[in-house]
Amino acid sequence: MIGIFDSGVGGLSVFREIRKILPDEKYIYYSDNAHCPYGEKTREYIVRRAREITGFLIGKGADIIVVACNTATAAAISALRDEYTHIRFIGMEPAIKPAAASTRTGVVGVLATAGTLKADKYLNTREKYSEGVQIAEHVGKGFVELVESGHLKGETAESTIRESLKPLLDMGADRIVLGCTHYPFLSETILAVAAQICPGREIQIIDPAPAVAKQLMKVMQEEKLIKKEGFEISLFSSGDASILNETYGRL
Ligand code: DGL
Repeated sequence: MIGIFDSGVGGLSVFREIRKILPDEKYIYYSDNAHCPYGEKTREYIVRRAREITGFLIGKGADIIVVACNTATAAAISALRDEYTHIRFIGMEPAIKPAAASTRTGVVGVLATAGTLKADKYLNTREKYSEGVQIAEHVGKGFVELVESGHLKGETAESTIRESLKPLLDMGADRIVLGCTHYPFLSETILAVAAQICPGREIQIIDPAPAVAKQLMKVMQEEKLIKKEGFEISLFSSGDASILNETYGRL
């Protein structure tokens, strides 16, 4: 069984890609929305939450775990790997590499949480793949709250997005890397706002979820974990479950 967790519904944007290539597996999804957002929390806090959730998922039968949260990956995946040595963990990595390879303006914009942008894991990825391009970063301020409250479109969503997106576009970015798994739910609005700010610039959003899904499949093949016994999913959340059920329903 594939365990997936996030601070909220964001990980469903990763699950959506996983299910496309692993349609006949059993899944368990945990939304830690009682403790969301993770973005401004300390590393220690996130490690504690990640440990507790991992224990829960394993207890329910998960034999591989996707940390479908950039912030939790950056803060906690090494601690999880050290503690649960019999389980493979798949984490998120901001897609700077493909963005740097395809930018035409030479500027790649990254939207992520504060926790992700200051973590060593992210800084190493940036250093490794950003040669020859400029990286412009901004916290997606208020984005997680928009997604957790189901406000994906409309005036509030647009003005919230504009505030964090404009600085990246003003620096010349034409690739926007989504470094938080909540943000893909806002993709349409992000593109619409980008087109208002920079009409004529060919802007693309880069989401790492399809690459993460492929990595999961590769590891499951190696570990002989693919069972193909028919699709099933159990959804759990630490807080109010309505947004999780609603978002899942929309998928
Ligand atoms: N979905 C998350 C991420 O990928 C966490 C967002 C948050 O809780 O602040 O970073």
